[in-house]
Amino acid sequence: MKTTEFRQQAHQLVDWMADYLEQVGQYPVLPAVKPGDILAQLPALPPAQGEPFADIFADFQRVIVPGMTHWQHPGFHAYFPANSSPPSVLAEMLTATLAAQCMIWQTSPAAAELEERVMEWLGHLCGLPSGWSGVIQDTASTATLCALLTARERATAWQANQAGLNGLGAFTVYCSSETHSSVEKGVKIAGLGRQHLRKIEVDDQFALRPEQLQAAIAADRAAGLRPLAVVATVGTTSSCAVDPLRAIAHLCQAEGLWLHVDGAYGGTATALPELRPLIDGLELADSYVFNPHKWMLTNFDCTAYFVKDKAALLRTFEIMPEYLKTGIDQQVNNYRDWGIQLGRRFRALKLWFVLRSYGAEGIRCIIKGHNQLAQQFAAALLARQHYQILAPVNLNLVCFRYAPAHLREAEWETLNPQLLAQLNQTGQVYLSHTRLAGRYTLRAVFGQPTNTEAQVANLLRLLDEQVARLPMQ
Ligand SMILES: Cc1ncc(COP(=O)(O)O)c(C=O)c1O
Repeated sequence: MKTTEFRQQAHQLVDWMADYLEQVGQYPVLPAVKPGDILAQLPALPPAQGEPFADIFADFQRVIVPGMTHWQHPGFHAYFPANSSPPSVLAEMLTATLAAQCMIWQTSPAAAELEERVMEWLGHLCGLPSGWSGVIQDTASTATLCALLTARERATAWQANQAGLNGLGAFTVYCSSETHSSVEKGVKIAGLGRQHLRKIEVDDQFALRPEQLQAAIAADRAAGLRPLAVVATVGTTSSCAVDPLRAIAHLCQAEGLWLHVDGAYGGTATALPELRPLIDGLELADSYVFNPHKWMLTNFDCTAYFVKDKAALLRTFEIMPEYLKTGIDQQVNNYRDWGIQLGRRFRALKLWFVLRSYGAEGIRCIIKGHNQLAQQFAAALLARQHYQILAPVNLNLVCFRYAPAHLREAEWETLNPQLLAQLNQTGQVYLSHTRLAGRYTLRAVFGQPTNTEAQVANLLRLLDEQVARLPMQ
């Protein structure tokens, strides 16, 4: 493609993008497609000759868009959001245009130094402990794996890296029963053995119980195992529960364990000074992750990973082949040594665009608004009387179920999956579910920049309509 055509097509694409962002609420949030529908429309073999861009773009609109789940739809209340914003999208266009591979300082000095600066900005914005160092990773799963690997290396004086895990004993890792599955995945990949992950009981707020943690550590020590690390969560996936960081951190210090804090979702909330108590005790931990790609207007992927001891991180991941050596390695951050991958995207640019476009106050205003919408939604459900709120509404997530008094638990258990399916079939909203204390639970997150009170009202109206259509009324 010549640049003259690129220029013309790019203008057309940007128009499409702006229209999409304006009209995304008019698409069905969930596409009405069956498995294989899209595949059936795609030729089995790649084209032998290049095709006109207009044809490719036409197929994008005809085949791809109707098969997409619209994550930026105002009715997207499922899982956690992966919200975005126009400045983030614009930066992503520039990133793709520069197409830089930012593995070391020399391969893109501005990318390396911007990353250093925006991570400092994020730390400041979110009230993180001073003196920590930050790096951008692709996902929280990767960051958590990095934490487990660094914990493993510190505990073995870097012998696992050198000689493998043989003969080092069995290491145990602790988290709550509500912890995200990425921890279990990390434990598997780090060679620690899934059977050595202890999922500690939670309290009635779904937060880890420190006394149970202490007992589990003691039992493992008595059995000759080697307690290694604890992962605490700020904003669990099912209910946004917050583990008691300070108590857990004291335990970790007393026991000599690595403490990694998973704030993948909840971390964004501490941009609000009044929500800093969520990370009270973080300064005693070893590592922390949160995802600007979930709730901080930065399109996927962009994970912020912070560590107290940068040297331990580097010593775990550093590798120095001749072809990557430069004369200034001692003076700069070579981010290839701060994690697993060598090649790195220029993710700092979109974060910079977002932080500058909204400013701390703009971001705070959006987060605060989301939390208020969740409170309003929860209050409206309770006012309807036939609903139960199944977890504290800590942030912008409401966990609830339809529980009419004239029916029993077993019937609630069959009605709620049906209610969820009906709601999602409307095409106007998308909610997901979980189980809390064994109960089938509907989850509604308010995390779209476009979410307003009108969307709360819309969701309530849809709930009323769909409840009326349930059997056994
Ligand atoms: C608490 C928590 N931790 C970790 C993750 C994994 O995030 P990522 O997709 O960035 O690996 C999630 C995903 O929703 C999460 O909710």
